[in-house]
Amino acid sequence: MQREVRTVEDVGAVGAQLFVETAQRSIEARGQFFVALSGGSTPKEVYAHLVEEYRDAPFWTRTRLFWGDERFVPHDHEDSNFGAAKEHLVQHVPVPDGQVHPWPYLADEPERSAHSYAAIIGEVLGDTPHFDLTFLGLGDDGHTASLFPGTGAVHEEGWTTVVQPEGRNTRLSLTVPLINQSRTVAFLVQGEKKRDALQATLHGEKDVEHYPAQAVSAQEQLLWLTDLDVSA
Ligand code: 6PG
Repeated sequence: MQREVRTVEDVGAVGAQLFVETAQRSIEARGQFFVALSGGSTPKEVYAHLVEEYRDAPFWTRTRLFWGDERFVPHDHEDSNFGAAKEHLVQHVPVPDGQVHPWPYLADEPERSAHSYAAIIGEVLGDTPHFDLTFLGLGDDGHTASLFPGTGAVHEEGWTTVVQPEGRNTRLSLTVPLINQSRTVAFLVQGEKKRDALQATLHGEKDVEHYPAQAVSAQEQLLWLTDLDVSA
């Protein structure tokens, strides 16, 4: 596995370029592109570049969109990761509706929602699912996807899990074992407030409970795209 930390000026632009290159390479090799998008605010900058520069690109018709995690809220809720992606990306590009796979929101049943998503992943990707590209963010507390420090979520087996982070919405997340089956994993980390978490994750002592992103790997490429310079 190739591991690289790349300091760049424009994380959104470089993230969009990685999306396009991985899509083209995956479609050429296997006829489809399976990508798991991350939540939070940084992905919106990637989406803006994709919509502005690639909205009519041919790869969209062979692309299947998934999400690495979700807040357990209806899709039209302001906190929904899918809702944000729908507004800033999905409704602007020609991905067939049947190839957009948000986490199901089964009201009051987060466990059943998580199990349903695992079934969808199995139906679409088979028994040994490999996303071609999984985007992840990093919280200033060290969380990634919805694997929050101190919740034990980083140790979950299986493909999906429900997480109850203190003071936040109930969360749904892919697990480390599934994320690590991705061919490429790319972290998108920007902003001075992420410096301490990034430094500790990359160069601190191994402590996956407090820095879950330390448990993340990939089958081919693990890439950290950041505007910060965090040397060892
Ligand atoms: C979420 C995300 C979360 C996010 C990080 C970074 O649902 O909030 O999946 O893991 O990626 O918190 O978010 P920013 O991109 O806003 O810094």
